[in-house]
Amino acid sequence: MTLQERLEELRADAPARLEAVVTLAELEEVEDGMLGTGSPLAEARRGMRDVAPEDRPAIGKLINEVQQEVSTAVDARRGELAAAEQAARLETERVDITLPGRVPARGAPHLVMQVWEEITDIFVALGYTVADGPEAETAFYNFDALNTPEAHPSRLESDTLYVAHGDDPEGVLLRTQTSPVQARYMQEHDPPVYIVSPGRVFRRDATDATHTPVFHQMEALAVDENITFADLKGTLRYFAREFFGPDRETRFIPHFFPFTEPSAEMLVSCFVCDGAGCRTCGRTGWIELLGCGVVDPNVFEAVGYDPTRVSGFAFGVGIDRLAMIRHGVPELRLFFDPDLRVLEQYR
Ligand code: DAH
Repeated sequence: MTLQERLEELRADAPARLEAVVTLAELEEVEDGMLGTGSPLAEARRGMRDVAPEDRPAIGKLINEVQQEVSTAVDARRGELAAAEQAARLETERVDITLPGRVPARGAPHLVMQVWEEITDIFVALGYTVADGPEAETAFYNFDALNTPEAHPSRLESDTLYVAHGDDPEGVLLRTQTSPVQARYMQEHDPPVYIVSPGRVFRRDATDATHTPVFHQMEALAVDENITFADLKGTLRYFAREFFGPDRETRFIPHFFPFTEPSAEMLVSCFVCDGAGCRTCGRTGWIELLGCGVVDPNVFEAVGYDPTRVSGFAFGVGIDRLAMIRHGVPELRLFFDPDLRVLEQYR
C-alpha cells in the first residue's frame, strides 16, 4: 500500500473507529494510533524528504487535510464522550432535593399534662389562681386540718404510703389527695379565696383498670361571703360543659368527706358503654369523677377562719380520669406506660 493509500484509508476509517470508542481513556489510545508518532501521518511527514519534489505539494496537502480532519473528528468525539460522562455522573450522584427531610422526633406534652393545663385554664379564666403544695406532706395537712378523725380508714397503712421521717411513724406521708393545699393556702391568705391546685397524689392501691398508686388530682377551693351549694353545682356544671361538651351526662349523689358538709360525688356517664354497664365503670354505667361539698366549719377553724363570716365550697377531681373519659382510654395504667405507641396517639 502506498503512503497515499494509507492516508486515504486512515481518513476513510477514522469516523467508524472514533464512533466505536466509548470512554475518554479509549479515545486517547485511538487518537495516539491515528495522530501519534507511530501513525501513518507521522510516517508520511518523516518520508517527505524522499518524495519527488514535484509530488511534494500534493502529498503535503493530503497530509494536512487528513491531519486536520482526523483531529477535528477526535476533538468532536472527545466533546461527546466528556458530555456523556458528565451526564452519567450527574445521574448517579443526583440528590433528590424534593424528598422530604428527616424530621427529628419531637416531644409533646403527655395527655395527662394536656388535660392538667386545660382544666387549670378553665378555672383561671373564671378568676381562680393556681396554688401549689408539697407531695411529701404532714399528716396534719393531709388529715387533721381537714377534719379527718384519728381513726379514719384512709389513714391506715393499707391506704396511705408513709415516709420514714422524724419520730412519729405516721407524721409524714405521700399526700393521698390535693386537699391539703386548701389548708396550707388558707393559713397563708385571708379570704376571699379562689384557687385550683393540680398535682400528683399517691395511694397504696392495687393497679387495675381505674387505679394506679400514683395519679393526679386538681383541687378547687372557693371561700367568700355567702357561698352555697348552689354555687358549687353551677361551677361544676359549667366546668363539665366546658370540658366534655354536651354529650356526657353528669349527676350528683350524696357522699361523705370529712372536710365538707354536705358532701357529694359528681358522676359522668361511662364513655365505654355509654351508661349500659361494663368493666370500666364496674357495671354501674357511671364513673366517679370528683368529690365535692360545702367546706366544713371545722376546717375553717383549723386554719383560723371565722365560719360565721365566710363559707365555701371545694372539690377534688381526678385528672387522669378526665383524660380517660374524654379520649376513651380504657385503662388508667396506659398513662404510666412508657410505650411511645401509646403516647404518640395523643399528641
Ligand atoms: N380529696 C378527695 C379524694 O381524694 C376529693 C375531694 C372531695 C376533694 C371533696 C374535695 C372535696 O375538696 O370537697 O377523694
